[in-house]
Amino acid sequence: MKIKEFIGLLNGWLGKFHQEEGLLYGDEKQIIKGITVCWMVTKKVIEFSVKKRNNLIISHEDIFFPPDYVFSAKRKGIVSSERISLLKKHKISVIRIHYLADRYCVLDDFAIVLSLGKPVVKRGPHRVYEIKEITLQKFASNVKRHLNLEKVRITGSPGWKVKRIGGLWGGLGLSINAVFIDEILRYNVDTVIAGEVDEYTMRALKDMNIGIVEVGHEISEETGLKHFTRDLQEKIKTIPVSYCSNDIPYTTF
Ligand SMILES: [Fe+2]
Ligand SMILES: [Fe+2]
Repeated sequence: MKIKEFIGLLNGWLGKFHQEEGLLYGDEKQIIKGITVCWMVTKKVIEFSVKKRNNLIISHEDIFFPPDYVFSAKRKGIVSSERISLLKKHKISVIRIHYLADRYCVLDDFAIVLSLGKPVVKRGPHRVYEIKEITLQKFASNVKRHLNLEKVRITGSPGWKVKRIGGLWGGLGLSINAVFIDEILRYNVDTVIAGEVDEYTMRALKDMNIGIVEVGHEISEETGLKHFTRDLQEKIKTIPVSYCSNDIPYTTF
């Protein structure tokens, strides 16, 4: 199957690409031998794909750094050039599936793995969940257990109450997405669960006495991306599809 044909299949299945999605690098006429699905195209993912002989990568996030939302730096930059030269060397194409994957399963799968139950609010990317009241510390330990994590970062006091939780999956907790954060606050949440937040968000929410449990951007989207990988393999039985995780990029001392 050629990439062009595969894109037709994706659009028929998931819907039309949004502006940030589609073939970010490569050639539509390339015949697909194998597919790697990942959260972000790092060197690790490229090396994995070379080993597996997968010549198409589907990435949830942008392959460029500075990313495409920094419009002035469009596709230029030291890291972008490095990644592109590796893809070129190994003749690997990259399709980005972002909004469509979020809508398909990424947002809801995260709540399922956390056992948050059905959302009491579900509007666009916004989700609010209600649970029996517990402390922030207890909630954070539950999150760690569900995700098999040694640590999560919390903002707020361990004793703060958690009853109404807003979801800021992925990068929605970053201040570049402050509009989404502002919107979730309108639903009277006492806590948010986030992929990643920056200090702007931490300080803003702390001033409102709203606790944050932060698990990691990739971790918050990975359950859904693995689900997407399984469903994609079901759809195209003749091409091998595998998922490649990135490691947590930092250590704490
Ligand atoms: Fe996402
Ligand atoms: Fe994301």
